[in-house]
Amino acid sequence: MTAIDHLDEVRARLARARKVFILTGAGVSAESGIPTFRGPEGYWKKHPPEQLASPEGFARDPKLVWEWYNYRRRLIAGCEPNAAHRAVAEIERRIAQFLLCTQNVDGLHQRAGSRNVVEIHGSIWRVRRADGTGPSVENRTIFEDTELPLRAADGALLRPDVVWFGETLPAEAFARVDAFLATGPVDLAFVIGTSAVFPYIIRWAAIPKHQGAMVVELNPSPSLPAELVTICWPHKAGDILPCLLERE
Ligand code: APR
Repeated sequence: MTAIDHLDEVRARLARARKVFILTGAGVSAESGIPTFRGPEGYWKKHPPEQLASPEGFARDPKLVWEWYNYRRRLIAGCEPNAAHRAVAEIERRIAQFLLCTQNVDGLHQRAGSRNVVEIHGSIWRVRRADGTGPSVENRTIFEDTELPLRAADGALLRPDVVWFGETLPAEAFARVDAFLATGPVDLAFVIGTSAVFPYIIRWAAIPKHQGAMVVELNPSPSLPAELVTICWPHKAGDILPCLLERE
């Protein structure tokens, strides 16, 4: 394992931190065997996102979309949280004021023990009526393709409760992140495994930075604007985070 630059500095900041914010993306689940979206083997390399992850694509072919989400459910159900997920959960246990905002819909952070989690893109393990009425409900079934697309008892079409391209973010989730960042300065922020393509991800890295936080980016292919990053670790999350938490 190559020497990790600034490890002692980040350890020291973590040891005295009162408020920590973590942002994650698909890269944190890559070492669990779940493809990322834009990586070489990523989902969007193989499938046009507008076909599988947009309201228009769902309207055109709800069975195809449901088969894809069902395939992803089966894959995720067969995976385990990795060392990076476990380390994020451990950081939460050590810090009084903590929030994890993940773009991932796989639920692996929660399976690793994370509690204060905002799923800003929803969850693959929840469904809701496609017409937008009614509540979001948990559903962890892996279906036979013959059972898809999924319908409610009254025949209404159901959809995965995830955020598709062209859709707005869940207002309550968005407000939770903003409220956490607005109530007192963050001491330490980690941005882990995201290509940071969305402006709100950049914004949620910039706010702690402007509050004086140490912002650590962890990604073999760093993606954040350099001016927002205090320390860049161009490595795999599962290789680095456990080292950070090792007692000296
Ligand atoms: N550790 C850390 N980072 C990693 C690892 C790893 N082991 N493996 C890959 N990465 C990095 C890649 O370098 C890349 O920058 O993870 C990032 C994954 O980027 P994307 O595939 O674009 O995923 P993400 O940023 O989460 O995408 C955001 O876009 O497609 C939508 O809704 C979908 O939530 C998703 C959103």
